[in-house]
Amino acid sequence: MKFELTEEQLMIQKAARDFAQNELLPGVIERDEHQKFPAEQIKKLGELGFLGMMVDPKYGGAGLDTVSYVLAMEEISKVDASASVVLSVNNSLVCWGLENFANEEQKQKYLIPLAKGEIIGAFCLSEPEAGSDATSQRTTAIDNGDHYLLNGTKNWITNGSTASVYLVMAQTDVAKGHKGINCLIVEKGAPGFTIGPKENKLGIRGSDTHSLMFTDVKVPKANRIGEDGFGFKFAMKTLTGGRIGIAAQALGIASGAFELALKYSKERKAFGQEISKHQAIQFKLADMATQIEAARLLCFKAAWLKDQHLDYSLASSMAKLFSSKVAMDTTIEAIQVHGGYGYVKEFHVERLMRDAKITQIYEGTSEIQKIVISRALLQ
Ligand code: CAA
Repeated sequence: MKFELTEEQLMIQKAARDFAQNELLPGVIERDEHQKFPAEQIKKLGELGFLGMMVDPKYGGAGLDTVSYVLAMEEISKVDASASVVLSVNNSLVCWGLENFANEEQKQKYLIPLAKGEIIGAFCLSEPEAGSDATSQRTTAIDNGDHYLLNGTKNWITNGSTASVYLVMAQTDVAKGHKGINCLIVEKGAPGFTIGPKENKLGIRGSDTHSLMFTDVKVPKANRIGEDGFGFKFAMKTLTGGRIGIAAQALGIASGAFELALKYSKERKAFGQEISKHQAIQFKLADMATQIEAARLLCFKAAWLKDQHLDYSLASSMAKLFSSKVAMDTTIEAIQVHGGYGYVKEFHVERLMRDAKITQIYEGTSEIQKIVISRALLQ
């Protein structure tokens, strides 16, 4: 067992940290306040290779491992979780799904620009009445000769209006249940495809979350990923890797809040000395650091299993379940360390606490992770 990072991994970590501090930190409070998508910053992240981190260079990616991806997600999320969710969806769900399951023609057309960050993608599974219960898809993709006719509504879609390419799960044959679901590649601008207003969210307010409506949208058969009926398995397999990305996002939110609390505790004086000299604060810092380290190890383990081509579904759910709880607990404690200052926007920790909550909801709630974990234990 080796806990050391390679030189390449350390380099990626530093590049992501520098980018977060230099490019994302300025303006992050304002973007949160005004729900402004970090468009310029995402463009630069794409140019630096962060949007197709794990994709083979022959398809325009950076060819890095999942551990490097976790490191980058942690550093970016320490500062701006609205930016890191874009990375997470584009890397883990869209690019990984296409690289592993799309055909060569689809890869040439869609994966290459997505991996290069020239365009971004969205993953469309959730519906108004199918969130956790993902097999209950109501969106239909009816076989109509050389194309499918797509009808329905998707909810909570990250990159909803900024994406150019959408991976849409839809039911082709209701009688077959989840085996009748397909994943279709839908392009922005397709006639009948409309984008609803931006959601006004508690956290990750800079990220671009919308409902999408499809009315008789013609999607060529050539845009189906995999065999007929592969859509649900496609969604589950991509989400399994996606959960590592969100676990790493939660880890970053927690470690960002911890670093702020640690720094503040050494500056702020109360009762004649820095508050870090009070045991009440020291115990909080010790608990936070220990929880964060445990979360980091779970993230690394899931990433390492994936890089070794071993089964990582249990590990990714454990990493997400634990890291998202640590993100909530740590951000609340970080506010407490800051006292009243923690409750105002300038000190960043209140935003991190609001951002933390979504990590217990998207890409499978904590309860869904417990279902996945307990099924694996009991099988
Ligand atoms: N890998 C491969 N196949 C899988 C799988 C996995 N991880 N998990 C399930 N499957 C397969 C099963 O083997 C089964 O196939 P067979 O019938 O051939 O055996 C099929 O899928 C159905 O599985 P289940 O019977 O287990 O299905 P279920 O209805 O009990 O649901 C669930 C399982 C785990 C609860 C699943 O519905 C789930 O993960 N729900 C949460 C959905 C979710 O995470 N949504 C997030 C939306 S995307 C998002 O948030 C992105 C964003 O914008 C940030």
